[in-house]
Amino acid sequence: MTRTDKNAQILILGGGVTGVIAARTLAEQGIDDYLIVEARPELGGRMMSHSFGRSNQTIEVGANWVQGTQTSNGPENPIWTLAKKHKVDTRFTGYDSMTTYDYTGKVDFLSLFKQSVGNYTSLIEGAGSRVPRQLVDTTSRTGYSLQGSKPKTPHELASEYCQFDWEYADSPEHTSWIASSWAHNFTFDPDAGGFSEDNYLSVDQRGFKTLIQQEAATFLQPSQILYNATVKEIAYSENGVEVTLVNGTVLTADYALYTFSLGVLQNDDVTFQPKLPEWKQEAIQSMTMATYTKIFLQFPKKFWFDTQFAVYADRIRGHYPVWQGLDLEDFFPDSGILFATVTGDYSVRVEALPDKQIQSEVMTVLRSMFPNITIPEPEAFFFKRWHADPLFRGSYSNWPASFFSEHHDNIRANVNERLWFAGEATSRKYFGFLHGAYFEGLDIATRIAKCIKGGGCVSLMHYEDVRNARPYRLD
Ligand SMILES: Cc1cc2nc3c(=O)[nH]c(=O)nc-3n(C[C@H](O)[C@H](O)[C@H](O)COP(=O)(O)OP(=O)(O)OC[C@H]3O[C@@H](n4cnc5c(N)ncnc54)[C@H](O)[C@@H]3O)c2cc1C
Ligand SMILES: *[C@@H]1O[C@H](CO)[C@@H](O)[C@H](O)[C@H]1NC(C)=O
Ligand SMILES: *[C@@H]1O[C@H](CO)[C@@H](O)[C@H](O)[C@H]1NC(C)=O
Ligand SMILES: *[C@@H]1O[C@H](CO)[C@@H](O)[C@H](O)[C@H]1NC(C)=O
Ligand SMILES: *[C@@H]1O[C@H](CO)[C@@H](O)[C@H](O)[C@H]1NC(C)=O
Ligand SMILES: *[C@@H]1O[C@H](CO)[C@@H](O)[C@H](O)[C@H]1NC(C)=O
Ligand SMILES: *[C@@H]1O[C@H](CO)[C@@H](O)[C@H](O)[C@H]1NC(C)=O
Repeated sequence: MTRTDKNAQILILGGGVTGVIAARTLAEQGIDDYLIVEARPELGGRMMSHSFGRSNQTIEVGANWVQGTQTSNGPENPIWTLAKKHKVDTRFTGYDSMTTYDYTGKVDFLSLFKQSVGNYTSLIEGAGSRVPRQLVDTTSRTGYSLQGSKPKTPHELASEYCQFDWEYADSPEHTSWIASSWAHNFTFDPDAGGFSEDNYLSVDQRGFKTLIQQEAATFLQPSQILYNATVKEIAYSENGVEVTLVNGTVLTADYALYTFSLGVLQNDDVTFQPKLPEWKQEAIQSMTMATYTKIFLQFPKKFWFDTQFAVYADRIRGHYPVWQGLDLEDFFPDSGILFATVTGDYSVRVEALPDKQIQSEVMTVLRSMFPNITIPEPEAFFFKRWHADPLFRGSYSNWPASFFSEHHDNIRANVNERLWFAGEATSRKYFGFLHGAYFEGLDIATRIAKCIKGGGCVSLMHYEDVRNARPYRLD
């Protein structure tokens, strides 16, 4: 590609769900002079599959579920719409299919598990009563405690983990009480405008990403994507943007839409010239980029539970607590594949250690879950290090208790009318989810199209200073 001068009217930085839907939105508005700049050789971003083990099974190392579908004639999750349109093969999954273990083997604590579901519901409802009274936000740990839920035993803690950390990829201590309640409601609670409480897992052997790649194929020309193009610096001014790739190539345009993850934004893999304003930097560093890690194993044959899920209560909270079996009739029969999930700080720990050590820890857990079975070493072992990957630096965003709505406005706000931001993290209602990425690509691209067609931009509101409602006192 030998583009010189202005390479395009708009550079869309990143080819994940946000970037692809932004491109589609521009195309629908009759704007075709855009270029998607993507470091990897394919579209999809955090929709990422991997060919695993003896059967070259396509497994999902990133997003795996459509979360929330539709309830009667209510709003439909647009990811569900795309999954149906492109005939992505999915399976319903549910908590009802669950086996419980601890460090002594199989132990039935399903009644505690059910209690933790009720306690999570109380947490979600309890946050709601704080909003109209304008009560200060707290952590979800504070919320749980105020609702009377103070889990102590390994079994209670593992049950709580399944309700909370497994969804937010972070602990109740690190998460806002009010924002997690909203996040839950807007996706899963039809009474609060959400889609539905159903989760559908992709088992499609083309990869879950096929949903967005096939959608891109309906409108995108090859000349509108630059693959293998890693951005290093973004210079912006009143006149436009200049994007420098790691190989030295400079791309210029009137506008840039930044869709790299919050994790990338928080680090220095991509720099800005001039530096982003203080209000923007504070907002970026105040949200959390959490990590969700799936550790896949393949064995010669299945020796484990027949349910979809298992919870393992270790003495240490978060030590390989959730297990998913894929060797099931409707999933990947005879595959010999199962995986464990860890999140948050524990993901960072796991990523820092060599594969061999994690494999040995995971095998120790499996052997304590199945004390009477001689378990061989796995034939295949794999996990992706999302936190360490400079293209992601984590899995998805999470809203901490000290993060204000104005901070979130500032993450989303454009700078200088030339530089725009969108991604799952900029979504007020659906941060963390695929549908959050979708809605943000749609909304911000619509705004950019208005800039171009209307001959002027309407900037998003930002706050120079985010202040306490009342000053902190020393007396
Ligand atoms: C392990 C995991 C599990 C998840 N599970 C679910 C789930 O089940 N359901 C759900 O709804 N959501 C889930 N999510 C969240 C979902 O994947 C994201 O919300 C969504 O994919 C984000 O899309 P995006 O376009 O905003 O960002 P991204 O997908 O990150 O797209 C940004 C793109 O920018 C590229 N890029 C980054 N840096 C550079 C650079 N310097 N130069 C050039 N290109 C660059 C990246 O390669 C990427 O393609 C999960 C995520 C992970 C990681
Ligand atoms: C991108 O790089 C990969 C190798 O990493 C190569 O196979 C592929 O052809 C490249 N794609 C383009 C469009 O240059
Ligand atoms: C798996 O992929 C490898 C490498 O592409 C190939 O040699 C092998 O035949 C494949 N196995 C199966 C079962 O498809
Ligand atoms: C979430 O929905 C529940 C149940 O409908 C409701 O009680 C609660 O107030 C909502 N949360 C918030 C923060 O509005
Ligand atoms: C649920 O909350 C109750 C108090 O409402 C508490 O006694 C119980 O231990 C909690 N259970 C779990 C599994 O967290
Ligand atoms: C730099 O990378 C881009 C994107 O892959 C490519 O189009 C361009 O030819 C490369 N330039 C050089 C000098 O290698
Ligand atoms: C496992 O072995 C122990 C000790 O031999 C025995 O008490 C227990 O019943 C066995 N459990 C199963 C599930 O077979």
